[in-house]
Amino acid sequence: MRDLLAALAELRERLKEIPQADERRLSGLKTEILGRRVGALTQILGRIPKLDPASKKEVGASANALKRAFEAAFAAREGELKRAAGTVTGVDLTMPGRAGWRGGLHLVTQVVDEICEIFRELGFTRAVGPEAETERYNFFALNFPKDHPALDAQDSFYLSGDILLRTHTSPVQIRTLERYPPPIRVVIPGQVYRRDPFDASHAPVFQQIEGLAVDEGITFVDFKATLATFARKFFAPDTRVRFRPSYFPFTEPSAEMDVQCQICKGVGCPTCKQTGWMEILGSGLVHPAVLENCGVDSERYTGFAWGMGPERIAMSRHGIPDIRVLFESDVRFLAQFAGGAR
Ligand code: DAH
Repeated sequence: MRDLLAALAELRERLKEIPQADERRLSGLKTEILGRRVGALTQILGRIPKLDPASKKEVGASANALKRAFEAAFAAREGELKRAAGTVTGVDLTMPGRAGWRGGLHLVTQVVDEICEIFRELGFTRAVGPEAETERYNFFALNFPKDHPALDAQDSFYLSGDILLRTHTSPVQIRTLERYPPPIRVVIPGQVYRRDPFDASHAPVFQQIEGLAVDEGITFVDFKATLATFARKFFAPDTRVRFRPSYFPFTEPSAEMDVQCQICKGVGCPTCKQTGWMEILGSGLVHPAVLENCGVDSERYTGFAWGMGPERIAMSRHGIPDIRVLFESDVRFLAQFAGGAR
């Protein structure tokens, strides 16, 4: 029994070799000490059953403790060597760098900001309103007749009762007129909803920018000059515009404004369907009934209003043939317009 205890004491000394061992030495040591047949400690453990009970207990306890100590020391060193193998020890400064991803504003957001900025220079402030509207704001205060097709659930998204997702930003004209006395000059960017198919030229949700100016003495000349100035600032200084008669319940007279096609400069191309013109907005002089519905004296005040689609405007500026690319978040498409990143 004494010789066994002495052998164990000697073996214990060898624990110190483990933390310094390299991979080969470590596996050699493991066989030498814990190997199934030849392992020094395995052999000692094998002799324990033949000892007398008292010695069995003493030698057994210390041999088992030593075995656990070796196992722990081997595992620790093995882990250390493994981690070291996976660690990069040097940095190659000659490698080319990787450019980081830089975020950018969506093309439509850039266009909305740019349009609002042009009107800010012309004296217009920015206003917003809710996307869930009542029929009164979305239709009736805007002079829509009770049987207008837009009131049909086939055409608009109703939420409940007479509450629907606004089909245009025009209801914010009413909210503004109810809240602020003239003079009023506002632009109202926002999201609108219609039960339209999702195809190359329609989307069920899109942006609009509404404009409203109400003051004493506003005439059709102010209206034309303001929108023509906008077109020349937004497109190019020599951009031609034209107004075509139209109809909206909330304006009288009403007009649609076209700008010379930006792609072919008026010659005719697929983007403008060979007409040389692109329609960019609906507009008109504010209908007296709309002013009266908001408690504004229509004898004293007149005004003009318009509504335009920034998606359409972005498409006409860049010759984008399909509106769906503006909703798909394909970075290869969007990155072409990321210059305005901030
Ligand atoms: N609300 C109209 C639409 O969504 C656009 C519009 C036309 C707005 C004429 C106006 C306007 O303010 O005067 O089609």
